[in-house]
Amino acid sequence: VSPNIVVVGGCMIDFTSYCPRLPKEGETVHGSQFKNAFGGKGANQCIAAAKLGGKTALIARVGDDTWGEQYLSNLKDFKVDTDFVHITPNFSSGIAQINVAESGANQIVVIAGANSRLNIEDVENAKDVIGNADVVVCQLETQPEVALATLELCKGISILNAAPASTSCNEKLFTLPTIFCVNESEASIFTGTPVDNLSGAKIAVELLLRKGCNTVILTLGSQGSLLASKRSPNPIHVPVRAVQCVDSTGAGDSFIGTLAYLLGTRKDMTFEKCVEISNYVAADSVTKLGTQASFPGPEILERYFNSYLGA
Ligand code: RIB
Ligand code: NA
Repeated sequence: VSPNIVVVGGCMIDFTSYCPRLPKEGETVHGSQFKNAFGGKGANQCIAAAKLGGKTALIARVGDDTWGEQYLSNLKDFKVDTDFVHITPNFSSGIAQINVAESGANQIVVIAGANSRLNIEDVENAKDVIGNADVVVCQLETQPEVALATLELCKGISILNAAPASTSCNEKLFTLPTIFCVNESEASIFTGTPVDNLSGAKIAVELLLRKGCNTVILTLGSQGSLLASKRSPNPIHVPVRAVQCVDSTGAGDSFIGTLAYLLGTRKDMTFEKCVEISNYVAADSVTKLGTQASFPGPEILERYFNSYLGA
């Protein structure tokens, strides 16, 4: 079966420390637990879609260390097509150092390693899978040129999760993707406006449309998300049910992977419905520790439809 959801992006090895609160600059705090797991936004988003039942392929690079081999078999365990995941000689796998507070808040430092070697040629070698996909997803953990080349080759729906954000970037990153998706802090970096509440978020969405985005999704954590497009520029707030958050790491990836899955397989659904369900699935992921391990399978969709029947 040819994959209809193709993700181009990063694979990281996550080193996560759980602590009562995030340390301040210069401070040492006692943590309660340590976990080591497979992460990276690209791989997380791909696995989020695969766990729901999506036929996925990942275009990525891992290091020539033991992590690289293990990462490949992890992807295969989730039935991700790894034909375009390459081991990179003389490079270590990307790593992420993550702190998660009891509130569920996190901070992350990523060292790209082999991810920094993912290049335009890698993308061009996969041009048929990218061109044939219904949905193509990329992020900014790999080089921006990689995202640009991917967006140029995509003939279906493209989603750019512009994370991590940077203040200077090629304006085509705004105009090329069908959907430009960021969280509060990323929206704030791209627009230079504070995104601390709903009205700040609405301003940021308007500014992103003004930068030429076709459709903008701004994810707002426990507040759900905002969406707007060129055709309906007034931001629509799509709220989400309240949950007990234990770890918000990868919630954005759960959201994007779910959205890609729904856009690629449930073509009868409205876009707003797809966003609402993606909010619901991402909210479920924050109730469990970790990223990939916390992403639900297809039963979550049943649960959504049952809980919303008659509502
Ligand atoms: O989005 C969450 C991910 O960001 C983590 O898995 C970590 O690897 C970083 O890339
Ligand atoms: Na989680």
